[in-house]
Amino acid sequence: MFKNLLQGGAGDQQTFVEGKECFFKHPEHCWLLGLVEKVLPKNQFEISSLDEYSKVGRITVKADDMAPVVAGIKEEVRDLLHLPYLHDSALLYHVRQRYFRNQIYTNIGPILLALNPYTYEIPHYKNDRMPGYIREGSSALYGKSSQIPHSWGTAHEAYWLMRTKGQNQSILVSGESGAGKTEAVKIVLRYLATCSTSQASAAIREKVQAIADRVEATSPILEAFGNACTLLNDNSSRFGKFMTVEFDAMGLFTGAEITPYLLEKSRVVQHAPGERTYHSFYQMLSGASQEDLDRWHLQRDPQAYSVTKGKVVVVETVDDVADYRAVREAMNLMGMMEEDEETVYRVCAAILHLSQLQFIERA
Ligand SMILES: Nc1ncnc2c1ncn2[C@@H]1O[C@H](COP(=O)(O)OP(=O)(O)O)[C@@H](O)[C@H]1O
Ligand SMILES: [Mg+2]
Repeated sequence: MFKNLLQGGAGDQQTFVEGKECFFKHPEHCWLLGLVEKVLPKNQFEISSLDEYSKVGRITVKADDMAPVVAGIKEEVRDLLHLPYLHDSALLYHVRQRYFRNQIYTNIGPILLALNPYTYEIPHYKNDRMPGYIREGSSALYGKSSQIPHSWGTAHEAYWLMRTKGQNQSILVSGESGAGKTEAVKIVLRYLATCSTSQASAAIREKVQAIADRVEATSPILEAFGNACTLLNDNSSRFGKFMTVEFDAMGLFTGAEITPYLLEKSRVVQHAPGERTYHSFYQMLSGASQEDLDRWHLQRDPQAYSVTKGKVVVVETVDDVADYRAVREAMNLMGMMEEDEETVYRVCAAILHLSQLQFIERA
């Protein structure tokens, strides 16, 4: 019956009748909601789109590329597991509807699906909503939260499962480049630090916050030396990251350990047209003082070095000067010694100089 319901076949003539809604597969927009206008020969149907977010007119579709709109399937849900049936068409319908209503987060049981909104200005996801999640404490476990889906919810569940069960928890963040993984990890970390001190005294909260600030300060540093502009993401992490977040017996955030792995080393030497090498090179060339550049024997122009030269050296969404300052401040906050910072940038300068070496064949 399920097969009949979803894949057509003998049941098509009853499943898809004129004047009834259906889901149909569109070559560009994937699954959309439509209305069966006409039943055509050879198991084909003329469909008009009911999708309000695209300009699709009428289209002829084969039964194989259609799915029925069963009772209740269009009803709003926060958790896709509550749908009357699970099929690409219905899943994508809901995710699409929610995205265009600025509901970028959707639960699938314990999994959180996030679609990148490219803005932090959505009112119901602003930081002032975080206390609502924190206040729920251990009562919000196992999907019982009354809050709307958010990365905070995932962090909350992990934190309270750890507290109540006394067991380690893992959060796996996965998605294609530019999907929002790096940002999601930052959101989760900030929540864990805040949540862990929600019942602590002001003095303890201040102490934990200082640790959280240092953990947060790892981001600009790691991103300067491990992130780059690619065609898909202006701040693409070119390495994987395993992070352990530690708590004491009281559940207070005590620190984090980060293991980066599989850095794309070849990018130091070469990058595709329209992309850049690692941010740090552009940051130091545009952000360092003239005195520093002179000491490193560097010119300010990224086009002067084969590592940094290319079609794209300035990116609209990236402020290399401000980021250079942020990295130096983060290094200070992490307790790096002035000499160590200098050494790091001298290594970068050496790479820039090495890229200028000319190899001449011996006669
Ligand atoms: N939750 C979010 N809210 C707002 N903007 C986001 C969010 N997640 C990602 N972005 C935007 O998308 C860009 C790419 O996200 P990023 O986390 O770097 O992707 P990934 O790590 O998956 O490659 C970020 O620089 C940011 O501008
Ligand atoms: Mg990333």
